[in-house]
Amino acid sequence: MKDGMKHVNYPDLHQAIAALTTGEDDQVALMATVACEVHHSDDRFDWTGFYRVTAPGLLKIGPYQGGHGCLVIPFDRGVCGAAARTGEVQLVPDVDAFPGHIACASSTRSELVLPMFNKTGTVIGVFDIDSDQPNIFTQTDAAELRRMLKMSLKNRALVALS
Ligand code: SME
Repeated sequence: MKDGMKHVNYPDLHQAIAALTTGEDDQVALMATVACEVHHSDDRFDWTGFYRVTAPGLLKIGPYQGGHGCLVIPFDRGVCGAAARTGEVQLVPDVDAFPGHIACASSTRSELVLPMFNKTGTVIGVFDIDSDQPNIFTQTDAAELRRMLKMSLKNRALVALS
Protein backbone atom coordinates (compact mmCIF):
# COMPACT_ATOMS: atom_id res chain seq x y z
CA MET A 1 0.00 0.00 0.00
CA LYS A 2 1.27 3.47 -0.84
CA ASP A 3 1.62 6.00 1.95
CA GLY A 4 -1.35 8.25 2.60
CA MET A 5 -3.86 5.95 0.97
CA LYS A 6 -7.11 5.11 2.72
CA HIS A 7 -7.24 1.52 3.96
CA VAL A 8 -10.46 -0.23 4.93
CA ASN A 9 -11.41 -0.63 8.58
CA TYR A 10 -13.43 -3.82 8.38
CA PRO A 11 -15.31 -3.49 11.70
CA ASP A 12 -16.44 0.00 10.63
CA LEU A 13 -17.40 -1.27 7.17
CA HIS A 14 -19.41 -4.16 8.60
CA GLN A 15 -21.17 -1.80 10.99
CA ALA A 16 -22.01 0.74 8.28
CA ILE A 17 -23.37 -1.88 5.90
CA ALA A 18 -25.36 -3.58 8.65
CA ALA A 19 -26.93 -0.28 9.66
CA LEU A 20 -27.73 0.72 6.08
CA THR A 21 -29.23 -2.60 5.03
CA THR A 22 -31.25 -3.52 8.10
CA GLY A 23 -34.78 -4.40 7.05
CA GLU A 24 -34.00 -4.22 3.33
CA ASP A 25 -34.60 -7.27 1.16
CA ASP A 26 -34.52 -5.85 -2.35
CA GLN A 27 -31.63 -7.38 -4.32
CA VAL A 28 -30.70 -4.29 -6.28
CA ALA A 29 -30.88 -2.02 -3.23
CA LEU A 30 -28.64 -4.41 -1.27
CA MET A 31 -26.09 -4.89 -4.03
CA ALA A 32 -25.94 -1.17 -4.82
CA THR A 33 -25.39 -0.30 -1.16
CA VAL A 34 -22.70 -2.94 -0.65
CA ALA A 35 -20.88 -1.91 -3.85
CA CYS A 36 -20.89 1.76 -2.83
CA GLU A 37 -19.82 1.24 0.77
CA VAL A 38 -17.03 -1.21 -0.06
CA HIS A 39 -15.74 0.81 -3.00
CA HIS A 40 -15.33 4.01 -1.00
CA SER A 41 -13.80 2.29 2.02
CA ASP A 42 -10.38 1.72 0.51
CA ASP A 43 -8.19 3.43 -2.09
CA ARG A 44 -7.00 0.03 -3.33
CA PHE A 45 -10.44 -0.64 -4.77
CA ASP A 46 -10.72 0.83 -8.27
CA TRP A 47 -13.74 -1.16 -9.44
CA THR A 48 -16.21 -2.81 -7.10
CA GLY A 49 -19.39 -4.56 -8.07
CA PHE A 50 -21.59 -7.52 -8.78
CA TYR A 51 -22.15 -9.84 -11.70
CA ARG A 52 -25.35 -11.91 -11.62
CA VAL A 53 -26.04 -15.29 -13.18
CA THR A 54 -28.87 -14.46 -15.59
CA ALA A 55 -28.74 -17.59 -17.77
CA PRO A 56 -26.91 -20.92 -17.53
CA GLY A 57 -23.17 -20.22 -17.79
CA LEU A 58 -23.64 -16.48 -18.12
CA LEU A 59 -22.88 -13.52 -15.87
CA LYS A 60 -24.40 -10.10 -16.45
CA ILE A 61 -23.35 -6.83 -14.86
CA GLY A 62 -25.06 -5.73 -11.66
CA PRO A 63 -24.69 -2.67 -9.44
CA TYR A 64 -21.13 -1.36 -9.40
CA GLN A 65 -18.84 1.58 -8.68
CA GLY A 66 -15.89 2.64 -10.80
CA GLY A 67 -15.35 2.85 -14.54
CA HIS A 68 -17.17 0.94 -17.25
CA GLY A 69 -17.70 -2.75 -16.53
CA CYS A 70 -18.18 -5.33 -19.29
CA LEU A 71 -21.88 -6.15 -19.54
CA VAL A 72 -21.64 -9.90 -20.12
CA ILE A 73 -19.08 -12.50 -18.99
CA PRO A 74 -19.44 -16.19 -19.89
CA PHE A 75 -18.43 -18.67 -17.16
CA ASP A 76 -15.46 -19.79 -19.27
CA ARG A 77 -13.92 -16.33 -19.42
CA GLY A 78 -11.98 -14.23 -16.99
CA VAL A 79 -11.59 -14.15 -13.24
CA CYS A 80 -15.29 -13.63 -12.62
CA GLY A 81 -16.12 -16.56 -14.87
CA ALA A 82 -13.67 -18.76 -12.95
CA ALA A 83 -15.27 -17.82 -9.63
CA ALA A 84 -18.74 -18.57 -10.97
CA ARG A 85 -17.66 -21.83 -12.65
CA THR A 86 -15.67 -23.26 -9.73
CA GLY A 87 -17.54 -21.71 -6.81
CA GLU A 88 -14.17 -20.77 -5.35
CA VAL A 89 -12.74 -17.43 -4.31
CA GLN A 90 -10.33 -16.07 -6.90
CA LEU A 91 -7.48 -14.01 -5.45
CA VAL A 92 -5.41 -12.99 -8.45
CA PRO A 93 -2.19 -11.06 -7.74
CA ASP A 94 -1.37 -10.48 -11.42
CA VAL A 95 -4.22 -10.41 -13.90
CA ASP A 96 -1.81 -10.57 -16.85
CA ALA A 97 -0.79 -14.04 -15.67
CA PHE A 98 -4.42 -15.21 -15.45
CA PRO A 99 -5.54 -17.14 -18.56
CA GLY A 100 -8.53 -15.48 -20.20
CA HIS A 101 -8.54 -12.40 -18.02
CA ILE A 102 -11.01 -9.84 -19.34
CA ALA A 103 -9.56 -6.35 -19.28
CA CYS A 104 -12.60 -4.14 -18.81
CA ALA A 105 -10.04 -1.54 -17.73
CA SER A 106 -6.45 -1.81 -18.93
CA SER A 107 -5.30 -0.26 -15.65
CA THR A 108 -6.40 -3.30 -13.60
CA ARG A 109 -3.46 -5.24 -12.11
CA SER A 110 -5.02 -7.50 -9.44
CA GLU A 111 -8.46 -8.83 -8.57
CA LEU A 112 -10.46 -10.49 -5.83
CA VAL A 113 -13.68 -12.26 -6.81
CA LEU A 114 -16.04 -13.96 -4.35
CA PRO A 115 -18.74 -16.33 -5.57
CA MET A 116 -22.22 -16.01 -4.09
CA PHE A 117 -24.66 -18.88 -3.67
CA ASN A 118 -28.35 -19.37 -3.04
CA LYS A 119 -29.65 -21.50 -0.21
CA THR A 120 -29.36 -24.67 -2.26
CA GLY A 121 -25.69 -24.02 -3.06
CA THR A 122 -26.07 -22.85 -6.65
CA VAL A 123 -23.88 -19.94 -7.74
CA ILE A 124 -26.10 -16.93 -8.35
CA GLY A 125 -23.45 -14.26 -8.88
CA VAL A 126 -20.05 -12.94 -7.94
CA PHE A 127 -18.70 -9.94 -6.08
CA ASP A 128 -15.69 -8.50 -7.92
CA ILE A 129 -13.09 -6.01 -6.71
CA ASP A 130 -10.35 -4.83 -9.08
CA SER A 131 -7.27 -2.81 -8.20
CA ASP A 132 -4.84 -0.80 -10.30
CA GLN A 133 -2.08 -1.99 -7.96
CA PRO A 134 -0.47 -5.43 -8.38
CA ASN A 135 -0.65 -8.10 -5.68
CA ILE A 136 -2.78 -5.89 -3.45
CA PHE A 137 -5.43 -8.24 -2.04
CA THR A 138 -4.90 -10.47 0.99
CA GLN A 139 -6.56 -13.53 2.46
CA THR A 140 -7.84 -11.17 5.18
CA ASP A 141 -9.63 -9.13 2.50
CA ALA A 142 -11.19 -12.31 1.12
CA ALA A 143 -12.30 -13.52 4.56
CA GLU A 144 -13.63 -10.15 5.74
CA LEU A 145 -15.50 -9.46 2.50
CA ARG A 146 -17.04 -12.92 2.53
CA ARG A 147 -18.17 -12.29 6.10
CA MET A 148 -19.61 -8.94 5.02
CA LEU A 149 -21.54 -10.56 2.15
CA LYS A 150 -22.92 -13.23 4.46
CA MET A 151 -23.91 -10.65 7.04
CA SER A 152 -25.51 -8.20 4.63
CA LEU A 153 -27.12 -10.58 2.20
CA LYS A 154 -27.91 -13.61 4.35
CA ASN A 155 -31.54 -14.52 4.84
CA ARG A 156 -32.53 -11.86 2.35
CA ALA A 157 -32.35 -12.03 -1.41
CA LEU A 158 -28.86 -13.51 -1.60
CA VAL A 159 -26.75 -15.85 0.49
CA ALA A 160 -22.99 -16.17 0.42
CA LEU A 161 -21.85 -19.54 1.71
CA SER A 162 -18.44 -20.26 3.18
N1 SME B 1 -11.59 -8.37 -15.18
C1 SME B 1 -12.72 -9.16 -14.89
C2 SME B 1 -13.91 -8.66 -15.64
C3 SME B 1 -14.76 -7.73 -14.90
S1 SME B 1 -14.20 -6.25 -14.77
O1 SME B 1 -12.88 -5.94 -14.93
C4 SME B 1 -15.18 -5.11 -14.22
C5 SME B 1 -12.52 -10.63 -15.17
O2 SME B 1 -11.55 -11.01 -15.80
O3 SME B 1 -13.36 -11.41 -14.75
